Amino acid sequence: MELKRYLVARQKEVDRALDRFLPKASTKPTTIHKAMRYSLFAGGKRLRPILCLAAAEACGGLTRRALPLACALECIHTYSLIHDDLPSMDNDDFRRGRPTCHKVFGEGIAVLAGDALLTIAFEIAAEAETSPRYDMCTILREIAVAAGSRKLIAGQVADLEGEGKPITRAELRYIHENKTAALITTSVRLGAMSANATPGQLNAISNFGRVLGLAFQVIDDILDVTQTSEKLGKSAGKDVAARKATYPAVLGLERSRAEAARLTREAHDSLYSLGKRGETLHGLANYLLEREY
Ligand code: IPE
Ligand code: IPE
Ligand code: MG
Ligand code: MG
Ligand code: MG
Repeated sequence: MELKRYLVARQKEVDRALDRFLPKASTKPTTIHKAMRYSLFAGGKRLRPILCLAAAEACGGLTRRALPLACALECIHTYSLIHDDLPSMDNDDFRRGRPTCHKVFGEGIAVLAGDALLTIAFEIAAEAETSPRYDMCTILREIAVAAGSRKLIAGQVADLEGEGKPITRAELRYIHENKTAALITTSVRLGAMSANATPGQLNAISNFGRVLGLAFQVIDDILDVTQTSEKLGKSAGKDVAARKATYPAVLGLERSRAEAARLTREAHDSLYSLGKRGETLHGLANYLLEREY
């Protein structure tokens, strides 16, 4: 219950800040700003920004300082979803409980809305106050690398190229580590950096993000098989239809569940050195393992 309240409070905080950072829907050209806001304010869980804020707290920092970074992460994540849903990628009609960006605004505007969200992420991140150990160059580079062609995009490429092919566990792990865990790792790392984390704290937080991010995508794969589209707010059952490389496809459901639980235990273990301050992150890891959407 305590964590539920934390999530709602943080979601509101992030939504208010995003609204401030984004150009108004009435700003010219209005189509693009409407499309960006349509996808951004469609009711995502705000998991990456919340992890960023919680990581800042876990390292003894203030969430206020992490807020621009948290918002930048959500912009990148939302861009990745808009493009992921395009007909040339996963070809999805529903996202966050409503028709996908390209269904409403057309493919051209959806591509551009994604581009614009990715770009504005850097503008927003540049608003953050830096801390003594991590200057703005370090922060921006961290984001660029995570979103780039050796991380998030690498994972998306391997995901597309893996469709319909037999795949090894190592290849599957590569996809998940890059398309999803990389941005989640950067989310907690940016929170830690905003809190001027010590190298030891940053290391613990990074390990946490990597295994939590992996668990997150394993669970996403499981939910695609076990949940309804209504509950997920996106079309379920698409991975099997597209013959995607997923954990349930490679390991089966039961072993995938065990793997998600094992990764979550590893996530808890990696927080050991943070002590009591890591409590919210522990709670978030449990919440993500048990989530139903
Ligand atoms: C969905 O992410 C895409 C993945 C990387 C699995 P989320 O489940 O965090 O989606 P939203 O932000 O809540 O819509
Ligand atoms: C999405 O993975 C990963 C990124 C958007 C980077 P999925 O394709 O599994 O996400 P969903 O299931 O469409 O949300
Ligand atoms: Mg995809
Ligand atoms: Mg998809
Ligand atoms: Mg999925």
